[in-house]
Amino acid sequence: MGKDTLTVTDNRTGKSYELPIRDGTVRAIDLRQIKVSSDDFGLMTYDPAFMNTASCRSRITYIDGDKGILHYRGYPIEQLAERSSFLETAYLLIDGELPSRSQLETFTRNITYHTMVHENIRKFIDGFRYDAHPMGILVSTVGALSTFYPEAKNVFDKESRRTELYRLIAKIPTLAAYAYRHRRGLPYVYPDNDLSYAGNFLSMLFRMTERQYVPNPVLEGVLDVLFILHADHEQNCSASAMRGVGSSQVDPYSATAAACAALYGPLHGGANEAVVRMLNQIGSAGAIPAFIEGVKRGEQKLMGFGHRVYKNYDPRAKVIKRLAYEVFDAVGRSPLIDIALELERIALQDDYFVSRKLYPNVDFYSGIIYQAMGLPMDVFPVLFAIGRMPGWLAQWEEMLDDEEQKIARPRQIYLGSGRRDYVAISERR
Ligand SMILES: CC(C)(COP(=O)(O)OP(=O)(O)OC[C@H]1O[C@@H](n2cnc3c(N)ncnc32)[C@H](O)[C@@H]1OP(=O)(O)O)[C@@H](O)C(=O)NCCC(=O)NCCS
Repeated sequence: MGKDTLTVTDNRTGKSYELPIRDGTVRAIDLRQIKVSSDDFGLMTYDPAFMNTASCRSRITYIDGDKGILHYRGYPIEQLAERSSFLETAYLLIDGELPSRSQLETFTRNITYHTMVHENIRKFIDGFRYDAHPMGILVSTVGALSTFYPEAKNVFDKESRRTELYRLIAKIPTLAAYAYRHRRGLPYVYPDNDLSYAGNFLSMLFRMTERQYVPNPVLEGVLDVLFILHADHEQNCSASAMRGVGSSQVDPYSATAAACAALYGPLHGGANEAVVRMLNQIGSAGAIPAFIEGVKRGEQKLMGFGHRVYKNYDPRAKVIKRLAYEVFDAVGRSPLIDIALELERIALQDDYFVSRKLYPNVDFYSGIIYQAMGLPMDVFPVLFAIGRMPGWLAQWEEMLDDEEQKIARPRQIYLGSGRRDYVAISERR
């Protein structure tokens, strides 16, 4: 067995350097000693989109993309989806261990206690245009919460941090539901703390004039599992935004607004919406071959396929595919599922997708379920945000407690103009 080091020779100078390897990585900063002269800044790494750079050491979520494995704190996602609840999973992600019965009761009580939002938030939402995208409303209202809880800026005060964490997990469904009701022109529904986390969310979305809203138990159960499946996914775009913005030591509401903004994009949390649009556009199973040919010619992407990390079937997509049938049994079958199944079958036999290891990801079936539940497409990313909240918070806390972390500040390779003198506007050509 050789040494855990990497020897590099700089052919510009002929000098060799021995760099330590730890956990399968070399430290980029160790390259800085490699210089051609004493005034040289030193060697840097260039890694656009962080394709091969670890930004942190983490103990939260493990993914093996080649094998299609996802664990939260060591527990396989399939077991959590089958046996845990969303709030228990949230506790696990944040605390690191599964709670005892009394710990879970206290955690659940704390979340339930914080579901209301300040009345001025309602007025704030009223100011949005009638057709405002709920995700745009969510980004702004989550950020606005920081102005209601100025003590949240004490990010190193662990007790205050705990309260903000309860507030964020508790209030995000309320904000999401208000955003949806605003879009529909419906009165806002206050939280019902006698219901479960998912049941209360369904109540805030759908309750009309009933005295007591009773959520459909199948939809309540499926939604809870969907939240579990979305709860964390290590250093994805929104978690990196949470960590990156949080590294400035801003309060967690502002950092969460940044994470929500990252999730808004069509390549991240907006993909499930794009999948439903795509399936509607395809229209029928007969139109799939022509659509696939268009994808192969680069005219469009097969939305809900492909992943930066998974080069195998996304384990969450497998669970979601099963959930779809539970939802259809409860509320009726969506015609889009037949197009989706056929699309998946054809794509997984086609060399274009096979050779690029493009498999269905979490978004391929989730949008179909949400649509069958009666939710409009632009609410889909908002549901993703509710599920992802505990993951963002766990990542944020881990970053704050990590003594190696500092304000995130990448380097660049400057390719712009050299020094030049300012020219008066009258003298410019
Ligand atoms: C998720 C995603 C952004 C990952 O992108 P990435 O890691 O940068 O992967 P790349 O863009 O390098 O893709 C590698 C190859 O597969 C192709 N590819 C990737 N996803 C594809 C898709 N959904 N449809 C068609 N081709 C795709 C790329 O064009 C590229 O082909 P090339 O080698 O001929 O250039 C990308 O797969 C995608 O856009 N998927 C659709 C959106 C989606 O479902 N997002 C949800 C993610 S959970």
